[in-house]
Amino acid sequence: MQGALVDISKAVGNTPIVRLSRVTAGLPVEIYVKCEFLNPGGSHKDRLASNMLRRAEEDGLKTGGTIVEATSGNTGASLALLAALRGYKCVFVMPDKMSQEKISHLRAFGARVVVCPTAVEPEDPRSYYQVAERIARETPNCFYANQYRNPANPEAHYLSSGPEIWKQTGGDFEVFCAGMGTGGTLSGTGKYLREKKPSMKVVGVDPVGSLYYDFVKTGRITKPFSYKVEGIGEDFFPSTMDLKILDDVIRVDDKECFLMTRDMTRLEGLFVGGSGGAAVSGAVKYARTMVDRGEAVVGEGAGARPARILVFLADAGHKYLSKIFNDEWMRENGFLEDAPGLGTVSDLLAARESRPLVTAHPDAKLRDVVALMKSTSISQLPVVDSRGKLSGIVAEVDVLRALVSGGKTLDSAITEVAEDDYATVTPNTKVELLQGVLSDSKAAIVEDGDRVVAIVTRIDLIDFFTKQTAAATTPSIAPTAV
Ligand SMILES: Cc1ncc(COP(=O)(O)O)c(C=O)c1O
Repeated sequence: MQGALVDISKAVGNTPIVRLSRVTAGLPVEIYVKCEFLNPGGSHKDRLASNMLRRAEEDGLKTGGTIVEATSGNTGASLALLAALRGYKCVFVMPDKMSQEKISHLRAFGARVVVCPTAVEPEDPRSYYQVAERIARETPNCFYANQYRNPANPEAHYLSSGPEIWKQTGGDFEVFCAGMGTGGTLSGTGKYLREKKPSMKVVGVDPVGSLYYDFVKTGRITKPFSYKVEGIGEDFFPSTMDLKILDDVIRVDDKECFLMTRDMTRLEGLFVGGSGGAAVSGAVKYARTMVDRGEAVVGEGAGARPARILVFLADAGHKYLSKIFNDEWMRENGFLEDAPGLGTVSDLLAARESRPLVTAHPDAKLRDVVALMKSTSISQLPVVDSRGKLSGIVAEVDVLRALVSGGKTLDSAITEVAEDDYATVTPNTKVELLQGVLSDSKAAIVEDGDRVVAIVTRIDLIDFFTKQTAAATTPSIAPTAV
């Protein structure tokens, strides 16, 4: 029949671009979104699944074989759709934080789903990356898609998302913004757009708890910790992520991602998943930095127009009905305004006895830091430059190690001694998360934007819990003596 597609895989791509108006009210920069959630498999991963499978078939994969993948859900859904059309079996390995809908979605296509613990190191044999690798090794006639290492992932976006966006827009925007997962989207699309328009800014959005933000900002591999938003952020560096393509990384926390996800649906009619809310939240924050830098208007005179950001919206809201779109889940996790809970890092800082933030300058010598530690009785300090930018942390134990066995002297630069044994959080980070953070790291460094504003240690957290417990158990009326 004229106009009909040969099969549903031919419907991948050509997703619309839509201008946001309500969630961006009052912002002088225009934000547009690329609606990848309208792909037949439900996300942008349709593009890489097609390309990875095309490459695997070129390399000899035969119908009847098994596709194995470590997936947070979307890549699996896209591969499962193609597998159904082309006669492959599928085994998908997922971390246990993923929503039940994602698991059910994959099973609906007849795939086998193996669920693994989220809270283990990527090298741990129980991690979903390692389990996927093992299953792939043990399965004959198998294709391990390995989206974290497969060059066909960024290539998919270089060959499809980039040219498609260019065709739709003629490159008439200044910033391309997307969530940072495997990096396929940013690396492939970013590379294409940058080749076409060298001034194009490529901006990644990363959740608090992931490794990317700190690494891009400071070169340090800090302590990752767990967060709720799905599909973005990593606790290791996939080879598919080309960090050099990035002009900037914007950090977002779960609460702002989820509230924006709900607003996108209720105010803009765009039923997106959490990483879509994250990407738009990040884009709004980046737009504010453009305003501060005087970049909100492009061109001059009659040709002047507001600067434009194009945001990639990865997947749809259906898979998050039991979480982001469920008030009970949102409240239980402290993401709604009236939610109970221990509060945020900001509340902890407000309850703490006020004290100035003591930092060491990156140019300081070890002797200056020892003197500072002695005069302030502080045992660990962030190394921060005059613009408030963090470059490490130094604790008494590091000083001791440097002097006794590290071959350093009191004249050594403090940057040679500073460590990356810390996690970074924001004032909005939930206090509940700090317990996990501080059981793994010396300290949590609180950053507001790119500025360090405080350091939180285990004793601060203990103090905060103690005060909260005391407040909850102190009787309001003194007991009567008997
Ligand atoms: C929901 C969602 N958003 C964003 C991303 C990130 O895309 P990429 O892997 O291309 O960086 C993913 C990747 O898994 C995802 O599942």
